[in-house]
Amino acid sequence: MTVPFIVGTDNKSLNTAMPTSLDQDRLPNHIAIIMDGNGRWAKQKKLPRTIGHTAGVEALKKTLRLCSNWGIKVLTVYAFSTENWSRPKEEVNFLMKLFESVLQKEIEFLNLEDVRVDFIGELKELPVKLQDLIKEAIKLTKNNTGICFNVCANYGGRRELVRAAQKLANRAMIGELHPALIDENIFKEELFTSKFADPDLLIRTSGEKRISNFLLWQLAYAEIHITDVYWPDFNEVSLTNALLDFQSRRRRFGGVDQISSDQS
Ligand code: IPE
Ligand code: IPE
Ligand code: MG
Repeated sequence: MTVPFIVGTDNKSLNTAMPTSLDQDRLPNHIAIIMDGNGRWAKQKKLPRTIGHTAGVEALKKTLRLCSNWGIKVLTVYAFSTENWSRPKEEVNFLMKLFESVLQKEIEFLNLEDVRVDFIGELKELPVKLQDLIKEAIKLTKNNTGICFNVCANYGGRRELVRAAQKLANRAMIGELHPALIDENIFKEELFTSKFADPDLLIRTSGEKRISNFLLWQLAYAEIHITDVYWPDFNEVSLTNALLDFQSRRRRFGGVDQISSDQS
């Protein structure tokens, strides 16, 4: 059983019990989140964008704890896209330093709380210090059995697909794999997320109705919940609403509902 989060910082007011309005038996196995709106959150408070990113970290810590406590098995979050390098240099530098300091400060708590941390993306292009901290975090938590927490850093869905195609082409070139044998399962094996089932639920905050190059393959049949809440304001109520929305959906995966097929 997952150890409830009790030792981490800033969780004093956090309710560890799942709201009774939610059906424990119909929770998504894997939640993916596009954590958007940090800059607008700061702007509405007349604060610099950087403060929005710092506040976003607190929302992430709380969301991870809630997901862990409520029994979600995998949480994958979009922290920095391959396109985010185009932001002003100061903002990019701030974000990299923020990732470093958060990892340094939180990794022991995450480990004590049995979280298995992973990072997804072109990690070799990140600052070396951050790469080292990422390697340490993965190594330290690799045998944990609680929630799998995947952080997408320098991640782009198109880059991931091109990378997979290159790997398969290489295997074909050396005669290890015949091109005719490449199917969806073999392709999936070359993705960063090969260990995990696809996300069941995608949450995007700040009201934007787009994917922004996130998990292009993996989101094929995810239910999408878009909320106007800016990421730093995302809380227990927002997560509950996302899960209630998910539980109100009928997933058909291209088939037909039991009800409509019975009627036909
Ligand atoms: C998301 O918030 C965080 C990152 C992309 C790193 P934004 O920084 O995109 O915030 P907005 O969209 O400008 O409000
Ligand atoms: C998506 O947000 C990337 C992350 C949350 C890390 P963006 O703010 O970069 O997306 P766009 O530019 O609004 O599409
Ligand atoms: Mg944004």
